[in-house]
Parts: sequence; C-alpha cells; structure tokens
Amino acid sequence: MAGFSEHNEHKYGVKGFIVTMTIWTPDLPEGGPRYRRIAEHMAEAIRRGELAPGEKLPPQRQLADRLGVTVGTITRAYTEAQRQGWVESRVGSGTYVRLPEDEDATVFRAGVPVEDGVIDMSMALPPPHPLRPQGLQRALRTIAESPLALQAATDYQPEAGTPAQRARIAAWQGELGLPDDPDRLLITQGGQHGIHLALRTLAQPGELVAGDALTYPGFICAAQQAHLRLAAVPMDEAGLDVDALARLCARHPPRVLYLTPDLNNPTGARLSEARRERLAALAREHDIWLVEDAVQYLPRERRGTPLVELAPERTLHLFSTSKVLAGGLRIGTLTAPERLQERLCSALRSQSWMAPPLMVEAACRWMEDPASRELLAWQVEEIAARRARALERLAAFGAQSGEGSSLIWLPLPAGRRSSEVQALLARRGLKVSTPEPFCVGSEPAPQAIRLCLGPPEDREALERALAIVDEVLSEPPSSPWQTL
Ligand SMILES: Cc1ncc(COP(=O)(O)O)c(C=O)c1O
Repeated sequence: MAGFSEHNEHKYGVKGFIVTMTIWTPDLPEGGPRYRRIAEHMAEAIRRGELAPGEKLPPQRQLADRLGVTVGTITRAYTEAQRQGWVESRVGSGTYVRLPEDEDATVFRAGVPVEDGVIDMSMALPPPHPLRPQGLQRALRTIAESPLALQAATDYQPEAGTPAQRARIAAWQGELGLPDDPDRLLITQGGQHGIHLALRTLAQPGELVAGDALTYPGFICAAQQAHLRLAAVPMDEAGLDVDALARLCARHPPRVLYLTPDLNNPTGARLSEARRERLAALAREHDIWLVEDAVQYLPRERRGTPLVELAPERTLHLFSTSKVLAGGLRIGTLTAPERLQERLCSALRSQSWMAPPLMVEAACRWMEDPASRELLAWQVEEIAARRARALERLAAFGAQSGEGSSLIWLPLPAGRRSSEVQALLARRGLKVSTPEPFCVGSEPAPQAIRLCLGPPEDREALERALAIVDEVLSEPPSSPWQTL
C-alpha cells in the first residue's frame, strides 16, 4: 500500500458497530513540518478509503514511538486533522476518523429519507439490530483481505452466479427449510427482480396473470410494466378462494398465478393446506405457471407445504436476503424447473448480465457467518414479542396477524376510512399503509390499515406507535371536508 508501512485492525468495540483501531503508520516524505505531513497523509488515506469513518486512530504515544517523533508532533498532527474535519476526538476514548461535513449522511428507508421523530410502520422491513451492519462489515472485510475473492468480484461471472455461489446460497436456503437444489437456483438482484424475471419469461404481453385480490404491489407493478392483463382472485382468511379461481379458469385460465401462500401481504392470511392441494391440481389441469413468493420470511414451523413441493414442474419459487439479512444487498433467488433454466438465464443476461459478484460474495459470506443465525434467531423472537404486544394492545379494534408474521392488519370500524385514519396517524408522527396499493385491477379496497412491526427502533417506539393508533381509533371520525 503506497505510503503506508502497516494498516491493520486489532480491536473490536461496542455501541452497535465494530470499532476497529488501525495500526496506521504513514511513511513520511521529506519536506515541510512533520505534523502537517502526518495530517496530510491522514486526509489522503481517508479520501482513498484506507482509513474508514469510525476507525480509531492509534494512541498518540504509540504512533510517536513508531515514527520516531515527539508526542507533541502527533498531538499537533491530530489537532490539524481535526481542524480540517477529518477526525474527531472523543473525551476519554481517543481520536476517530469521521465523515467530512459535506458527506451526505442522511438515513434512507426504502428510498425515502427517515424523518426525525416519525415512526414509519409503512414498510415491511426487518427490525434494526447492530448485528446487521456488523455482519455486512465482517463479510466485506474478509473479501477485501482475499486477493482471490477480489479478483472474482472484478470479473464477469455466469448469469445465474458461479456454481460454488449457487451451492452456498442453496445450502443456506436448505438450513432455512427452503428450496436447496443449486442446479435449479438462479441468483437474482432481489425478490422484485425475481418477479420480473418470472413474469417476462412465462407470459407474453396481453396475456392474463392472476393474483390474490389484495397482494404485494411489486407484483402488480411488474405485471403492468410487462403489459400483462391482471385478474384479481377473491380471498378470505384461508387465502385465495380456489373455487373462485376454478370459475376464472373455466372462462379464461390465467397463464401465471402469483401467490404468497404463507403470508399474504397485506392481510397476513395463510393459504390452507386443503386449498394448496386443490390449487396444484387446478394448475395442472389448466396448465398454469405458479409463482410462489416466499420473500416475507416466516420460521419453518409457521409455513405450510410449499407449492414448489406440490407442483415442482410448474412452480417458480422466489426468495431473497431482504427480510432476513438486509434489503440493501439486493440479492435473491429464483428456483425454477429445469426446462426454464436457459430462458431465465437469457433474460437475466439481457437485463443486467448477472447480479453484482461482489454483492453475491458478500451475501454468501454473511450467510456463512454464525452471527447471521444469531441475528435471525433474535429477529424471530423479537417479531413474535412485538406481534403479541400489538395484538394485545389493539385487541379492542380487531387487529389480525398470521402466526410468525410481522404484519398487523387492522380492519377499521364502521364509519372510518383508511385515508382519513392514515392522515390522522401521520399528523401524530406515525406512518402506515392503506390497502389501495395492494388492490389488483379495479377491485374496491377494504377500509383497513397495515402496520409493519419491523421498523420501530425498539419496543418503546412500538409502544408509542400503538398508543397513537389507539388514540386515533378511539376518537370519532373526522372526515376533512375539502370539496364542493
Ligand atoms: C411479498 C414480497 N415479495 C417481494 C418483495 C421484494 O423483495 P426484495 O426487496 O428482495 O426485492 C417484497 C418486499 O417487501 C415482498 O413483500
């Protein structure tokens, strides 16, 4: 590393992130006061990414000994770097690399800036935990230290991922009780990408695709973009109404049926076992492709028999790291029958060539890190506790939620409308979703709201949010009269 004789981490800290202390030792060129040369080197190393924000600089005496200068010189160098905004000194702790002022440190959730003081329960995200950034940090660090991994990350790779990476992700899915055949698994850029790939490969523009009357908006949007016609199949608390599907098939069988059988988003309904069997038979009878979306993670014991097991010859199974590790990774999988592999690979290649090899490798290493299991175990328990509390607190309003689910579905009392309640909650600092974006076609939306239990920072924030819901729903309706 030019200009540096040594640069190693050797300490872990707490407070959410791994704090590393660098053994940064600059090789100082000749000319100019030494303290200034040290400060310049430090700035240069931060700009090049060799010293990362949050890293702890060596104690002044240690660096002074290593460079053969006085402690006073190092003190002046650190002071100069601090004056320029590159480092900050924390009383009793040491000197740390910081983000310069002009770096944008705004926090975003699903592309939207996080507003101060607002509790956003409108996005289905996993609950925050320090193990999340730490897991990614460790994965990236081990890649950065491996010349072979870096070389692989700079090369084009096979569309569906390397055989080794497919095997590693399949093994992880196997541990989670999900499809684990690496020969049928393609690596995608997340679940949403998997939906696009499936629809583009299975249906031609103008063909009919069907889904639950209320379903994941990403499917609706992908179908619209692929110029497909959408059919809404009625549903109830046991999932999609298979009799209604049979009636649709008698008139016009859809080419594809998209389903989230274990956890309907937004209602949380789970497709009953009897309906799964009948649905697989109906799909065979009318030659319908099934797209089974399992992205909303549920613990194995909370799931039903997967459609991919009941009708493997016609089911495409979708999963992603988004609800288990992190959505920002953009890594998912599509497990598909053998006969579709070539067409799916070709679609993948034409869209983006492949998922970024660096991110695939980061995901693989993170999955293999035992701390990822610890994170998931914590998450499952945390969601269960949050769900139990929300159901208890909102019992008077008829709150519903599938076992193991992080979604709460709240049908509104007579006389209340989703948009009115959403606006009242927003005014008190709580964001929730209304069913409108989940409606397939022009089906009317029920009057209800969906709360996602993952995003609140902690249980205390959840408690505040539930109190706001209680307050708003306990008030008489107040429709804003704004039109003539
Ligand atoms: C049912 C369902 N499928 C797919 C996705 C998209 O997943 P990803 O973030 O991996 O693209 C989501 C995201 O919330 C989802 O709820």
